[in-house]
Amino acid sequence: MTIEERQARLRWDGPDCLRVGGSRFLVALDGAPGTRATAERLILMKNKVMVDTFVEQAPDVVENIFDLGIFKGGSIAFYHELFVPKKLVGIELHPDRVKGLDQFLSAHSLGASVRLYYGTSQQDVRALSKILLREFGDQPLDLVVDDCSHKYEPAKASLNLLLPRLRSGGVYLLEDWGWAHWPGDHWQGSDHQYANELKPMSNLILELVMVAESRPGLISEVVIKNGAAYITRGPETDIEDGFDVSNAYLSAGRTILS
Ligand SMILES: C[S@@+](CC[C@H](N)C(=O)[O-])C[C@H]1O[C@@H](n2cnc3c(N)ncnc32)[C@H](O)[C@@H]1O
Repeated sequence: MTIEERQARLRWDGPDCLRVGGSRFLVALDGAPGTRATAERLILMKNKVMVDTFVEQAPDVVENIFDLGIFKGGSIAFYHELFVPKKLVGIELHPDRVKGLDQFLSAHSLGASVRLYYGTSQQDVRALSKILLREFGDQPLDLVVDDCSHKYEPAKASLNLLLPRLRSGGVYLLEDWGWAHWPGDHWQGSDHQYANELKPMSNLILELVMVAESRPGLISEVVIKNGAAYITRGPETDIEDGFDVSNAYLSAGRTILS
């Protein structure tokens, strides 16, 4: 599907009101506190610029998707409506299922193609490996979206497992990685949700940039745009077992990141 064809599937009735396919979304970066998702109106925790950029940066063919961070279910429903993938898997740390999303899935008979794992951390590599095997077998992934903890170690754990599983040309999207650099007293102060994180997620992005320069066959492109990092997988197939992004770049003997 071309970018234009994909864009044509989106109908904005206002900056926070989106229709895709037969579904309606409240697009709210704050997650619309106090508002429940329903099958008729899902809640997508993004804004219009993020959605438009995503549509422009996503790969041309998207059949297998791994979405990290379900929240109120908007991204799962959105990716289904936009791509109609063969398989869409979501994980979420919170153990409670999202009723509105379950109603959406049963209304569209998506029980087999959309598979959700609640009570599952992105850092639990054993659980993620089992899910990968059960849901995708040896099929490559086209798209991974990490919109989850936004913390360095958990994000790196799932990336080390999932980045090698992308097909050549597949995209790994890391959302909201830049919180340590956002301007304003709130984010530059000591009273926000990531204030105790010593190593911000930016370290992961910088590591990925260095991998792209050292091993273009593994990462062919890094695009930083509107709060997200889009990492495109190169054609390299023989990725080492136990891949670790922190050991996957050259530095001519220098210590670049502490
Ligand atoms: C920003 S929200 C996801 C928004 C959703 N993708 C959307 O676009 O509507 C992040 C979600 O990730 C979950 N989360 C946070 N840390 C996690 C972790 N370590 N593993 C799995 N999920 C986590 C949170 O509970 C929250 O529901």
